[in-house]
Amino acid sequence: MQAQRKRFIGGNWKSNNTLAKSLELVDSVVNKLEFDNLDVVVSPVSLHIVPIQQAIKNNVQVALQNIGHKGFGAFTGELSFEHVKDLKINWVILGHSERRRTPEISESEEFIANKAVLAINNGLSVIFCIGETIQEMEAKETQAVLEKQLKPLVDQVKDWSKVVIAYEPVWAIGTGKTATPEYAEEIHANIRKLLPDQSIRILYGGSVTKDNAAVLIGQPNIDGFLVGGASLKEDFIHIVNACK
Ligand code: 13P
Repeated sequence: MQAQRKRFIGGNWKSNNTLAKSLELVDSVVNKLEFDNLDVVVSPVSLHIVPIQQAIKNNVQVALQNIGHKGFGAFTGELSFEHVKDLKINWVILGHSERRRTPEISESEEFIANKAVLAINNGLSVIFCIGETIQEMEAKETQAVLEKQLKPLVDQVKDWSKVVIAYEPVWAIGTGKTATPEYAEEIHANIRKLLPDQSIRILYGGSVTKDNAAVLIGQPNIDGFLVGGASLKEDFIHIVNACK
């Protein structure tokens, strides 16, 4: 029997918007969302997270887009899990391809997994992103790439109730080239086989729109979305509604 998994919709605002614009987005989109029995989480830039959190009037939660690799200490420029917990923020996105694959950033698989484990062991929940490039897909390396990205996490995590996996094919991010529902379903089913627990939610990310959300969420192994561009506009309301 298939495990019941609570659907999850994340809005990754990336490095966009002034504070005023983000507050407007809270008013015009986030505070208009009405749902229960779903997790909805938006992720503004870390500098904005407190005023955004204070402006949210419903059950939408916030997530950081990254976290430091240590606790409090002499790590100039880093945010520690203690800072995050202190402000009652529960979620952090880790392993986004924009942090793995941007040459100037180039976070390694080990580094990402270690940050995830540190966050989880200290009570935070993690949206852990994985995904293949177009070259890797064409070379039929998708499964091997995803396994390699997941392995250091699978080897170390004990409490999987604090993990959501986001499958985001790099070729689909911000390109308008959404994975077909069949392709996404096949990959999600394969990812699930690598995970120790059937109740772990696997999100799809990459050019999710108000027009393709319903058919994607209809796939048995797609438990929600991590939305980029469409989370910065009213379309996000339609995407959340498609998942109710
Ligand atoms: P887009 O929805 O803009 O393709 O971005 C997806 C993404 O990177 C979410 O983390």
